[in-house]
Amino acid sequence: MQDKYFPDVVGSDGRDFGKAVCIITGASKGFGRCIAKEIALLLKPGSMFFLVARSGDKLRELQAELAATRAGKAGLITRCVVADLGLKDDVDQVIREIREAASDIDINQLLLINNAASLGDVSRFAKSFTDLHEVNAYMSFNVSSALSLTASVLEVFPRRQDLHRCVVNVSSLCALQPFPSWVLYCTGKAARDMMFKVLAEEEPDLRVLSYAPGPLDTDMLLQARTESGDAGLKKSIAALHSQGEVLTCEESCSKLLKVLLEDKYPSGTHLDYHDV
Ligand SMILES: NC(=O)c1ccc[n+]([C@@H]2O[C@H](COP(=O)([O-])OP(=O)(O)OC[C@H]3O[C@@H](n4cnc5c(N)ncnc54)[C@H](OP(=O)(O)O)[C@@H]3O)[C@@H](O)[C@H]2O)c1
Repeated sequence: MQDKYFPDVVGSDGRDFGKAVCIITGASKGFGRCIAKEIALLLKPGSMFFLVARSGDKLRELQAELAATRAGKAGLITRCVVADLGLKDDVDQVIREIREAASDIDINQLLLINNAASLGDVSRFAKSFTDLHEVNAYMSFNVSSALSLTASVLEVFPRRQDLHRCVVNVSSLCALQPFPSWVLYCTGKAARDMMFKVLAEEEPDLRVLSYAPGPLDTDMLLQARTESGDAGLKKSIAALHSQGEVLTCEESCSKLLKVLLEDKYPSGTHLDYHDV
């Protein structure tokens, strides 16, 4: 398929995200990296990308890859922001960089993809999480930073008549269902879904989507498959893998982008790959 702005790259059915500021957390690998590559093809020249993660080398690799595409050559500006989103100073730094670089550029779309997350220690059961610091550290990255980053980004780009603002929460089936030995992950994902539901209630002009991407062939799934403390769960993830039911990031990403471009979902909803 061809894109109308960048004719030799994969594009959409005529729709695009316009001239945008797009922020993707966890862009260094896995689903976030894939989203960055696919969205780049759907941005108008002059758009600005912020790629956030801890691994600077991987972000810069992606930046170079994007620069070599027609989108990059046509004026897509990409900034790498190396940050540990579990730390307040780093979250503040992300916002500072976005504010300095992008607050006064002329855009018609704001897209924030809260994708970064971690599984936490899945080798243990809920009754072993006695250490408040361990639990707080997990929640700080997986829950609190998603709220404070989103709130700060919305502050930098306030409501404006000609600005379409969209916030995505990369969610999981674990937001809805309990899985033994995944207490941190399930709790974090459930909290994030509710957080974004409340945001959608409060900000009717904002488009808010919690998207559960399905089982993806990434490092996170490898950890789930090898480290889960619950034997039954470990076995069923291994079975998903051996039966070829694990999705590629590209498969799931294309559904997410279709939903975002159609823009018909009820704001705040939880949507699963398998429901689209
Ligand atoms: N894989 C699945 O089967 C699956 C299923 C359902 C939902 N999901 C969700 O999909 C999203 C992406 O998952 P994935 O499978 O792509 O995971 P992944 O391969 O483990 O990638 C996680 C990303 O988050 C970043 N990250 C981790 N800790 C960070 C921190 N403290 N600060 C900043 N960035 C951090 C990582 O980069 P650095 O290490 O460079 O910081 C990486 O870019 C997550 O929200 C996950 O919960 C995944």
